[in-house]
Amino acid sequence: MTEELTIDGETEQRDIWSAMRAEASAAAAGEPVLASYFHSTILRHKSLDSALAYQLASVLDHTALTATALQEVIAEAMRADPNISRCMRADISAWYERDPACDQYLTPFLYFKGFHALQSHRVAHWLWSQGRRTLALYFQSRVSEQFAVDIHPAARFGCGIMIDHATGLVVGETSVVEDDVSFLHSVTLGGSGSGTGHRHPKIGRGVMVGAGAKVLGPVSIGTGVKIAAGSLVLSDVPPHATVAGVPARIVGKSAAAPAYTMDQTLDSEE
Ligand SMILES: CC(C)(COP(=O)(O)OP(=O)(O)OC[C@H]1O[C@@H](n2cnc3c(N)ncnc32)[C@H](O)[C@@H]1OP(=O)(O)O)[C@@H](O)C(=O)NCCC(=O)NCCS
Repeated sequence: MTEELTIDGETEQRDIWSAMRAEASAAAAGEPVLASYFHSTILRHKSLDSALAYQLASVLDHTALTATALQEVIAEAMRADPNISRCMRADISAWYERDPACDQYLTPFLYFKGFHALQSHRVAHWLWSQGRRTLALYFQSRVSEQFAVDIHPAARFGCGIMIDHATGLVVGETSVVEDDVSFLHSVTLGGSGSGTGHRHPKIGRGVMVGAGAKVLGPVSIGTGVKIAAGSLVLSDVPPHATVAGVPARIVGKSAAAPAYTMDQTLDSEE
């Protein structure tokens, strides 16, 4: 595809990037048929930011906006907003530390569409914040087509987010997701009613949102809450509660940060 881009101002976290390069070298040696893939995605890049621009451009490539042009836009966003790069690194660590199916840093970066959708959203959000709404909406549309993940470009996400499986995630325009949140698939952070303005949830730090949960309206989900699979949350939830059901009710207390432990059971002291 395109040549490598070096992103200015990158603060490299050598440990993750070095680990990813070592993983890619080992993977290329172990599966020679994929050697050129690991070379083009990881080994020929001088930085993780450059590799991310290439990777996102590859997965979003389309005749309407080719990988070469996409790579330039993504690199521009990362140069302008260092938070994209900082949060991307925290996201990789989040997957590595929380997802039992992820035993390499390389895994979410290359293979997990939740990671690709989230990083694409970070770029789309920057475009939206710059008034480049048409291109931001194009990113949202491509991500939705490719990954079945639909996040409005205006939605705000913190760092250290993990979206396991990701299929069916829908996040509305005025949603806010704080740092260190974990989502499973088919979650909706949706609006309620027919108004405009603030109408979507705020998800506090360290929350774990179970598969299929629907959180509707301008509700506030406290720090460290655990939301059970299939729940319908229509009202505020206090910190460190576990909620379940349709509509959801408090069924217990949650661990300090269920998003970290990904303990998908009622806590033992409950
Ligand atoms: C069903 C719905 C239209 C009712 O909205 P509402 O008029 O504001 O009603 P309320 O939130 O006051 O709820 C009324 C009652 O129905 C219950 N309820 C609300 N939505 C429910 C649902 N989807 N399933 C089961 N019960 C529901 C509430 O718990 C409440 O019960 P209660 O009277 O015993 O306390 C709304 O909750 C809903 O589901 N809208 C769809 C929104 C959506 O899909 N948004 C996603 C956008 S991406």
